[in-house]
Amino acid sequence: MNRKKIVAGNWKMNTLYSDAIALAGNILAKTSAFKDIEKIIFPPFPFINDVAILLQSQPGFYTGAQNCSSFEKGAFTGEVSAPMLKSIGANYVLIGHSERRAYFKEDAKTLSLKIEQAFQAGLNVVYCFGEALAERKSGVHQRIVKTQLQEILSVMPQDKISDLVLAYEPVWAIGTGETATPPQAQDMHAFVRNCLVELFNKEVAEQIPILYGGSCNARNARELFNCPDVDGGLIGGASLNADEFSEIVKSF
Ligand code: PGA
Repeated sequence: MNRKKIVAGNWKMNTLYSDAIALAGNILAKTSAFKDIEKIIFPPFPFINDVAILLQSQPGFYTGAQNCSSFEKGAFTGEVSAPMLKSIGANYVLIGHSERRAYFKEDAKTLSLKIEQAFQAGLNVVYCFGEALAERKSGVHQRIVKTQLQEILSVMPQDKISDLVLAYEPVWAIGTGETATPPQAQDMHAFVRNCLVELFNKEVAEQIPILYGGSCNARNARELFNCPDVDGGLIGGASLNADEFSEIVKSF
């Protein structure tokens, strides 16, 4: 099966305007030769428009938002809607990142509303999920992940499947420098693909890209991307450096 290969950079709440434009420009210059790898950059909200204009100049580059509102429009002070993001050039939105779940108390109901908004607006979704350290230690990591998939994907419109990317991000690996080992990543990705067979069917399960995220960097990306069910990475810290990010893009 020829699934898309993707390297995505989640800049989180980092960079000021000039840094963001310089970083996007450097990433573009260093990775545009790798045409069969999809590159998605998730800058902070205020920089999406200008980063999107830059990245649109080359094929294979996409821009995304790190979050969107669960409402379409109206009196929701401070919120940013999915149609607004679409209108400024975003192609993707991240939904369910563990930092949103933990710090902003986003639960399954909120996340499914956000996904609905995103698809309605014509955005693609990277849906993030993953277990906490205590859950892995007590051996319930697969059950947790299955629940996180079921509660969102069971309400997913079938005609939007090709707009969906999954990102397995064990919480204990995010920003900690502790990466899942390739066997740990492969085990979970294969398990996720089996869940997709149960939720949809084999053909759909084979088609959905599953990214690994959590302290993925230029040193460990190659081994992780070599795993048969790992289709790329969602990169946090290491995506803030164009050299490091481009090394990761070259790791397939
Ligand atoms: P990290 O973050 O690469 O800094 O661990 C990954 C993420 O949160 O998406």
